[in-house]
Amino acid sequence: MRTIIVTGASSGIGAYCARALKADGWRVFATARRPEDVAALDADGIEAFHLDYRDQRSIAALVDAVLQRTGGTLDALYNNGAHAQPGAVEDLPVEALREQFEVNLFGWHALTRLIVPVMRAQGHGRIVNCSSILGLAPVKWRGAYVASKHALEGLTLCMRAELEGSGIQVSLIEPGPIESRIAPNGLTWFLRNIDIEGSVHRQAYQAQLDRMQAGGSKSRHKLKPDAVYRVLKHALLSKRPRPHYVVTTPARVGVVLKRILPASLFYRVLASQA
Ligand SMILES: NC(=O)c1ccc[n+]([C@@H]2O[C@H](COP(=O)([O-])OP(=O)(O)OC[C@H]3O[C@@H](n4cnc5c(N)ncnc54)[C@H](OP(=O)(O)O)[C@@H]3O)[C@@H](O)[C@H]2O)c1
Repeated sequence: MRTIIVTGASSGIGAYCARALKADGWRVFATARRPEDVAALDADGIEAFHLDYRDQRSIAALVDAVLQRTGGTLDALYNNGAHAQPGAVEDLPVEALREQFEVNLFGWHALTRLIVPVMRAQGHGRIVNCSSILGLAPVKWRGAYVASKHALEGLTLCMRAELEGSGIQVSLIEPGPIESRIAPNGLTWFLRNIDIEGSVHRQAYQAQLDRMQAGGSKSRHKLKPDAVYRVLKHALLSKRPRPHYVVTTPARVGVVLKRILPASLFYRVLASQA
């Protein structure tokens, strides 16, 4: 039976993918932060563990526990758990930016570094990192998240080149709008770290608050998490997994526009979408 770690499985894409992988015959080790979310995964027959990417000990404990259960092997790692800190760059406390990177980049890096030697020793493995279209295109009010996903793109692609010939294949998934809890969760980060009333952007923030309170993007192109699962399966099972999987129409349009438009025009188009 193939084995995989899926992080951030309490809601949204991770919750869906953990269960879909199990239904497709994988042995799934899924992670969440709250005990009730760990229990809900357990109740669905998924081997569930606590993991907080900000906590190096929880990362090491997860890897120890999983390797103990598998006898020291792991076929795949799906880095998925993340949060999205909203706010204009000038309003972002450095600590909020640091925390964004702690979760969306450094934690992923720490977990990946513990898994690569295991995969090298067994001569095969798949690592799939869930980036975002915002890892390829900058959108205002999202500087922290955009920066973390751009950094993730760079780090992942360098690692991909370095692992050439090792039997370990590395892919990025770049979704556009997907139904999940990312907006309501982001609202908490917005209110916690940004001085909304004291900002020169307070009017623009009101629109962001309204959007997040209403559950995030209302795009008619918003897809359910199964759209991500379809490409995750390809990245995990295909003989030739792709480096990039762009998901949703807005994300695909963004990639094409970035390729064909002069930069200044591309950024103007993005600004008009925010
Ligand atoms: N939804 C979209 O439109 C969209 C678009 C592009 C990319 N993505 C990416 O898709 C991935 C999944 O997000 P989602 O949309 O499914 O959002 P979500 O419903 O908010 O799920 C995010 C998951 O990450 C977990 N998480 C948050 N902070 C964490 C930490 N410090 N350590 C470990 N896990 C943590 C959350 O756990 P808690 O419940 O404990 O907070 C939750 O399980 C993310 O990488 C996101 O950047 C999403």
